[in-house]
Amino acid sequence: MNGQYAIAIDGPSGAGKSSLARRCASRFGFLYVDTGAIYRTVGLAAFRRGIDRRDEAAVSAMLPELEIRMAYNEQGEQRMYLNGEDVSAAIRMPEISLCASDVSALPAVRAYLLEMQRKMAREHNVIMDGRDIGTVVLPDAELKIFLTASAEARAERRLKELAAKGVEADFASVLRDIRYRDEQDSSRAAAPLRPARDSVTVDTTEIDFAGSEELLCRLIREKLGVEEIG
Ligand code: DC
Repeated sequence: MNGQYAIAIDGPSGAGKSSLARRCASRFGFLYVDTGAIYRTVGLAAFRRGIDRRDEAAVSAMLPELEIRMAYNEQGEQRMYLNGEDVSAAIRMPEISLCASDVSALPAVRAYLLEMQRKMAREHNVIMDGRDIGTVVLPDAELKIFLTASAEARAERRLKELAAKGVEADFASVLRDIRYRDEQDSSRAAAPLRPARDSVTVDTTEIDFAGSEELLCRLIREKLGVEEIG
């Protein structure tokens, strides 16, 4: 699939970006690209090596030793590989979320991962989700959505997601992590989380998943003039 269309979905953690982007991508036959997974892979590498994740020199020195690869399996799921190892499950652990947020604040890390993300959009029609896709990575995206919800609603959803995966967590600590990441992702100097000027904001606090999915698919149809496949 060529890179004719790009859709950027940005927003805070837990707003439903990845689940919604995945659904919309499959309905329109686009490739879903989860850019958070790439930052998580760098965060995991720093964590495993015991590197101070805020120390830009130390993290930069590690980057050339990392071979980060993204691949899609037969079910169309994105898998992340770190030096040949499938780390798709390891990067989802809650402590790795914080590591990812820490390393993602470093300009050297962002610059290192930029081309990898743009290449995906050149080669495929993509729905790409992250924090700076509409503002930095794909400023010419045909449609930019800023997806948000209250911190409490997002914590509630994240808790359910973790429970479904058998990961135990409590509401207070999930909410605390979400607030910490909101603050850090929005206040950093390098590509902070903020809506692109030409983005459409969708607040899903009061809208359920099916309603949000229909809203996004309608925006895609209207803005890109594309039809669903199958
Ligand atoms: O979407 P996520 O929760 O998997 O992302 C993990 C962290 O990576 C998040 O705290 C912010 C960072 N990130 C980023 O800075 N830029 C992106 N495009 C995607 C994620």
